Amino acid sequence: MRLVILDDYDAASEWAAKYVRNRIHKFKPGPEKYFVLGLPTGSTPLGMYKKLIEFHQQGKLSFKYVKTFNMDEYVGIPSDHPESYHYYMYENFFKHIDIDPANAHLLDGNAPDLVKECDSFEKRITDAGGVHLFIGGIGPDGHIAFNEPGSSLVSRTRVKSLAVDTIQANARFFGGDVNKVPKMALTVGVGTVMDADEVMILITGVSKAFALYKAIEEGISHMWTVSTFQQHPKALFVCDEDATLELRVKTVKYFKGLMHVHNQEVQD
Ligand code: GLP
Repeated sequence: MRLVILDDYDAASEWAAKYVRNRIHKFKPGPEKYFVLGLPTGSTPLGMYKKLIEFHQQGKLSFKYVKTFNMDEYVGIPSDHPESYHYYMYENFFKHIDIDPANAHLLDGNAPDLVKECDSFEKRITDAGGVHLFIGGIGPDGHIAFNEPGSSLVSRTRVKSLAVDTIQANARFFGGDVNKVPKMALTVGVGTVMDADEVMILITGVSKAFALYKAIEEGISHMWTVSTFQQHPKALFVCDEDATLELRVKTVKYFKGLMHVHNQEVQD
């Protein structure tokens, strides 16, 4: 596992965007060879999406031969609802880039058969050849996608009831009213993300500091589902200084000492 520590949110977002750009370039995608990205929503990845859009507008990055799979979606809110993840992805990313909409896959939280929808999402990932780079964010309770505490660490895409903590954390997006937050979601499983060739988790802000500590300084636990990535052969945590506040000084020093190596991955 690699831990990349940047000064602040903007620097972490830019680093992550450059990493994605360089991965896509290195892969040299084409009509016979699509790069497959797993994508998150939430406030954390917004800065990265902005930078990726900038690269695209500067003619430095194309998504023409990129397929995307989003991690999760609420159940039961229309896809044009401003808090649906469909709406979020379109507004904050897809409408600004040259991706073919047919290649941008999102779970349908209004599908008549939700179990079937989840199974077909897994199949679509398999048919695409698997995910090359899965990008994720986490909740303050260390959940990845909507894999709440206690989720199976080998779980696949499925319907989940949301934890009270998550409903409360996400109420800010629904006018502060917990009753308006959907109680269920569709989410990729921990196992689905673990299958990706590479996983990059974005963690910023002091509210995620305890989760980052649980993710990397303690053992793997289903109560902190993001800790699973300790067992991933290629996991990368990108964070800001604030997110490191609960880590040991020794841990932070160790990983900062490796920054010159990590930075080779984001050169222009
Ligand atoms: C939701 C999403 C997660 C996301 C998390 C954190 O729970 N299902 O995928 O990582 O929010 O969001 P934020 O980045 O806004 O803190």
